Amino acid sequence: MNDYIDILFLGDIVGKPGRIIVKDYLDKIKNNEIKYGSDNFEHAKSGNMPDFVIANVENASHGFGLTEKNYNELIQAGIDAFTSGNHIWDRKDVFEYIDNARKLIRPFNYPKSVPGKGYELFKINGASICVINVLGRVFMNPIENPWTLLEEEMPKLKQKSDIIILDFHAEATAEKISYGYFADNLGLSAVIGTHTHVQTADEKILKNGCAYISDAGFCGAAEGVIGMDIDSSLKRLKTSLPERFDVAPIEKTELNGVRIVVNIDTGKSEFIERIKYFKDFSEDNKR
Ligand SMILES: [Fe+2]
Ligand SMILES: [Fe+2]
Repeated sequence: MNDYIDILFLGDIVGKPGRIIVKDYLDKIKNNEIKYGSDNFEHAKSGNMPDFVIANVENASHGFGLTEKNYNELIQAGIDAFTSGNHIWDRKDVFEYIDNARKLIRPFNYPKSVPGKGYELFKINGASICVINVLGRVFMNPIENPWTLLEEEMPKLKQKSDIIILDFHAEATAEKISYGYFADNLGLSAVIGTHTHVQTADEKILKNGCAYISDAGFCGAAEGVIGMDIDSSLKRLKTSLPERFDVAPIEKTELNGVRIVVNIDTGKSEFIERIKYFKDFSEDNKR
């Protein structure tokens, strides 16, 4: 059994540009064509790969939701656990398959009658990891209280696993930071922010060992507005009229996420760093 578990968390995957850059990145680190992470953590990795990959997939199918086909495609690409957010319901087929999609997690603080589940346990290197997803409430649609819910559920979660990774899907940075401290006091291993699609530079380990970043960023088209087509975003903002959003073209793409290293014995994180990778697929198309 390893003493540490190396986790890669990828921010919101947006449409096909997001899916292809994630596959490209995971293939390249697996084949040692590019380096995974830095050498800034003294305990060397067992290879050039994370032990476990989590990705937020609320926008993975054409920018809105996740089809079963894309869920299976992303498992094949190497993702072990899927978190989501407010957009997870945008593809209607999600209601058909979510209860059978073991690796897919929807925000925990929906009413109990909502399909799917808010957390899942995964086994890796002899350790168990609990991945949990929660929605924030500031500048978001009304939803059940994510604070009291986590407080109430923690004793049960801690019995199942010492390693608890939480995706806090929220808009307001102050709410995210506050939730980070709250979760650190409860003994979580990591709180990773998602939903804004813009990576923040505030990654840190909080005092009780919770790795934190306000937003992991996104994976998708680099020349776009948080992964979506520039013209339709401009038109909507200039005119205030409703405009159908499309995913930005697959040319220049970017992948954003974080690498977290958790001590298996304590469940505390000891290292966090941002991961960024760029790939220009228009060069490939010209060949
Ligand atoms: Fe998103
Ligand atoms: Fe979202």
